[in-house]
Amino acid sequence: MKHNTALIAGASGLIGNRIAEQLIVAGNWDVIALARRPPATPNMRWIAVDLADLEDCRCKLVDLPAVTHVFYAARYDHPEGIRESVDINAAMLSNLITTLEPQAALQHVHALQGSKYYGHQLGPVEFPMHEESPRAPGVNFYFEQEDFLRARSVGKQWTYTTTRPHAFCDPAVDHPRSIGLAIAVLAAIQNELGEPLYFPGRSKGYDVRTQFTDLALLARAIIWMAQEPRCANQAFNVVNGDNPRWCELWPRLASWFGVKAGAARGIKLAQTMADKSSVWDAIVKKHGLRPTRLDELVLWAYGDYQLSPEWNVRSSMDRARALGFQDAVDSYEMLTRQFAQYRAARIIP
Ligand SMILES: NC(=O)c1ccc[n+]([C@@H]2O[C@H](COP(=O)([O-])OP(=O)(O)OC[C@H]3O[C@@H](n4cnc5c(N)ncnc54)[C@H](OP(=O)(O)O)[C@@H]3O)[C@@H](O)[C@H]2O)c1
Repeated sequence: MKHNTALIAGASGLIGNRIAEQLIVAGNWDVIALARRPPATPNMRWIAVDLADLEDCRCKLVDLPAVTHVFYAARYDHPEGIRESVDINAAMLSNLITTLEPQAALQHVHALQGSKYYGHQLGPVEFPMHEESPRAPGVNFYFEQEDFLRARSVGKQWTYTTTRPHAFCDPAVDHPRSIGLAIAVLAAIQNELGEPLYFPGRSKGYDVRTQFTDLALLARAIIWMAQEPRCANQAFNVVNGDNPRWCELWPRLASWFGVKAGAARGIKLAQTMADKSSVWDAIVKKHGLRPTRLDELVLWAYGDYQLSPEWNVRSSMDRARALGFQDAVDSYEMLTRQFAQYRAARIIP
């Protein structure tokens, strides 16, 4: 089988880690990881580099002639509530490609985007969102990076693709931006308090259709499109493929935890959970769980972000399907599989 060399920028991040795992299992890839901190996946070379610093890139990213594919999954630090830097994120991709291009046998560059490309978080959007749907108003580093790749690849031997997933879902427990962890920990706290699992958003939000992206599915899609010539120079939505209403999903999730589903409460988890550390500590002690701090385990503001939209969202998978990517994931099965993994890891009771 043909041997490729992948360079994964952001290999310690949620999706970077899953891409690395799948490439290593595939067996026909050499994998080089880029991040400032060491990635969790073993069996790959790691280069500690600050992509925001062009000089650091020039010093550390040397002698990489074998690199054929770049998987760009880096995202500059973005504390909740602070606007993500467009300039730094745009510079990071540009620094990497500028340093790599003269020395590597580049065939393909893939860059992660997301459905924020269409502005799904700002208000009602096209239903479904297509790759040709308009960009959201305002600035976003996705636009800068996409324009950069489009312009830079002209006349080159390499092509590019981008993906636009929705809410990332993954069994990882060391990334607090996780809707699965937020629901699982909320269920444990409500159960401990002897209360039903209320829906944190408002009743209008309880009725809307939502969607998720399983990261194993996303990694498969990315690796597929990086090698499928018909995908070249295009963007692709990648979501599970189902489109449940929260009001259909929530009672089934509550039932998985053996608790009753409560009504939509219209609260902010970031506020409500602020004084629940002692409840969590008691749960950890009572059930002999792995010691965790509530304020580190879950980013509640991220839970609010996922649970508060009051309009339907759906991304069309037609483009990827037409070119042969048929994988789909049942979101209830995915979330409950994640809950079981948290339980097996002694993170929740
Ligand atoms: N999370 C979601 O729900 C979601 C949904 C849709 C789309 N997306 C998109 O998917 C992409 C990846 O997101 P993610 O959630 O997987 O990100 P993440 O978990 O926050 O990981 C970010 C990665 O970037 C690396 N990084 C950050 N600054 C760096 C620097 N200066 N130099 C080198 N590496 C650096 C980090 O490693 P170090 O800190 O060790 O350097 C880490 O490996 C982003 O474009 C995001 O917008 C995410």
